[in-house]
Amino acid sequence: TTNHLRHVESMATMPSGAGNIPHLNAIILGEALASEENDLIFPSDDFSRQAHVPSPQKYLEMYKRSIEDPAGFWSDFASDFFWKQRWGEQVYFENLDVSKGDIRIEWFKGGLTNICYNCLDRNVEAGLGDRIALYWEGNEPCLDGSLTYNQLLQNACQLANYLKDIGVKKGDAVVVYLPMLMELPITMLACARIGAVHSVVFAGFSVESLAQRVVDCKPKVVITCNAVKRGSKVIHLKDIVDAALVESAKSGVCVDVCLTYENESALKRGSTKWEEGRDIWWQDVIPKYPTTCAVEWVDAEDPLFLLYTSGSTGKPKGVLHTTGGYMVYTATTFKYAFDYKPSDIYWCTADCGWITGHSYVTYGPLLNGATVVIYEGAPNYPDPGRCWDIVDKYKVTIFYTAPTLVRSLMRDGDEYVKRYSRKSLRVLGSVGEPINPSAWRWFFNVVGDSRCPISDTWWQTETGGFMMTPLPGAWPQKPGSATFPFFGVQAVIVDEKGVEIEGECSGYLCIKSSWPGAFRTLYGDHERYETTYFKPFSGYYFSGDGCSRDKDGYHWLTGRVDDVINVSGHRIGTAEVESALVSHPQCAEAAVVGVEHEVKGQGIYAFVTLVDGVPYSEDLRKSLILIVRKQIGAFAAPDRIHWAPGLPKTRSGKIMRRILRKIASKQLDELGDTSTLADPNVVDQLIALADT
Ligand code: WT7
Repeated sequence: TTNHLRHVESMATMPSGAGNIPHLNAIILGEALASEENDLIFPSDDFSRQAHVPSPQKYLEMYKRSIEDPAGFWSDFASDFFWKQRWGEQVYFENLDVSKGDIRIEWFKGGLTNICYNCLDRNVEAGLGDRIALYWEGNEPCLDGSLTYNQLLQNACQLANYLKDIGVKKGDAVVVYLPMLMELPITMLACARIGAVHSVVFAGFSVESLAQRVVDCKPKVVITCNAVKRGSKVIHLKDIVDAALVESAKSGVCVDVCLTYENESALKRGSTKWEEGRDIWWQDVIPKYPTTCAVEWVDAEDPLFLLYTSGSTGKPKGVLHTTGGYMVYTATTFKYAFDYKPSDIYWCTADCGWITGHSYVTYGPLLNGATVVIYEGAPNYPDPGRCWDIVDKYKVTIFYTAPTLVRSLMRDGDEYVKRYSRKSLRVLGSVGEPINPSAWRWFFNVVGDSRCPISDTWWQTETGGFMMTPLPGAWPQKPGSATFPFFGVQAVIVDEKGVEIEGECSGYLCIKSSWPGAFRTLYGDHERYETTYFKPFSGYYFSGDGCSRDKDGYHWLTGRVDDVINVSGHRIGTAEVESALVSHPQCAEAAVVGVEHEVKGQGIYAFVTLVDGVPYSEDLRKSLILIVRKQIGAFAAPDRIHWAPGLPKTRSGKIMRRILRKIASKQLDELGDTSTLADPNVVDQLIALADT
């Protein structure tokens, strides 16, 4: 650790410069840092020496520039890419203040580029054509495949040519409902190549959720596969698409083409339901198309993709990302947060159906010319050692996953880990929710053999890329802290009134200025964009997360402060679950809260009242859970249904969730003031029924 202490000392003499980075100076409180009880974990000298950012000092220098000269800082990174035409004089424009007009964020406007070209053609031209772009590991340990950069480019071009052929044009939406096959990133890249806007729907979403997303963006084509195996279960995805297209047609949205990949290992084509005239087998048409395809040059501010995420109302939000800023931001964050080097083999366990799979399975890594492992199956199939088997098989050096998986593998015991060497690993990553210190330590000590720094990356669907993350090698870590903001991110903590608070404090996490990867709007609802994110604290982007800062300036995310819960890293709006529950003919009212869950982080706890005269029964409980699975997806199924004759409400009829949260988590001595309830007896009834 001596190396680091030296950095620490030298930083103490750094001028503190820009006004809004004082918290960084706290890292340099030499004594505090060195003390054991501070629980600091230092990267090794060897790691730091080879890192892109080897010291807090280097970080501070780069961070300062990113804040003082965002245009220059990000232009330098943007220049690493190919632009058909360079962006205009004004590198970026931002208005984050509703009182000054519409919220608007633009980066590199006027620049013409293409993210598929930059992921593939550019790397091929740089001599990486024969490098493996994707390693694919199937659900069954004996099934695998790979594509070089050359091959990935050819595959993306063939699909792009097909899409053009059926009339998909720049700006058109394409809905994608695929599991983790190589065809998923291929599809995203093919869309990007022709300027079409992909809307990937996680293949765990239900018929209703898929239909809702189809109706919202009206695609000409949906791309799916017939089925997928996860663990020992076969899931018939095509059946879900069929039903969703029947639903969407009822709302007047008719999809002309359903391009279906035959995922032979899960289901043969003969057993797949088929609609002649609409359905087309991928394998029958795509290989016939030319393997080159001209690029559609798009403006940096042209849309790249839509991705729906949950908010505090029942209707999912279509987060819209554009091309240029997103490209520069995902590439840069990937490189620095994982200290990426060309010799790395990178595996992120996320599904491309979520933002992590967009930014850090597909775009960020491929823009860096990285070799990416993708895995089709369940992480504990056929046994809880599978992840480490995959790590050894592909010699994975960077392993990025979610705390929920870490906790579940931790429960299965160390033997499964120790059976494998894992010696290729050098950097670990975590995302999706705060990682509790005990899971952090297990990940660090057992999986990483106390050798690999953990990048605990805090970000959101909306932010496009990492906002706060350790830079491995740059500074010591604290288990459970996302540490410090990434370059260009002015993260601030504000109080209820929206006033920034300094030093050791806790409050709401906001961002003070734009960054290139920021989302630009909610599809078709700019007003909701402004209201949700920019009105709560005027002049700031509001993340929806609580955060505290400790005496050393480290940041600790404390979870959502809105009606969103985080189950296994999946974001679920309580209102969505409630509206699914009340759609059950026998359910009168529902109120959903999150409760601590050992593996999932948060579990879903649903309070329900029933229609007059209906008795509560085990069958009813099951059918309430089923309706949520059907309307949203299995991952949103309530862990607990709590039946009650009434819910605690204020006199104006508002459900008091604060009380429900306490009841759900059995903190009965912390119920607080119940005197404002319309009927205080309801609380006792609820408590009495807690165990039924
Ligand atoms: C919410 C965003 C970003 C990709 C996965 C989830 C929580 C995410 C962390 C982290 C603490 C985290 C936040 C955030 N979250 N990463 N490292 N530490 N909290 O994306 O579905 O848009 O959810 O996930 O609460 O707001 P998402």
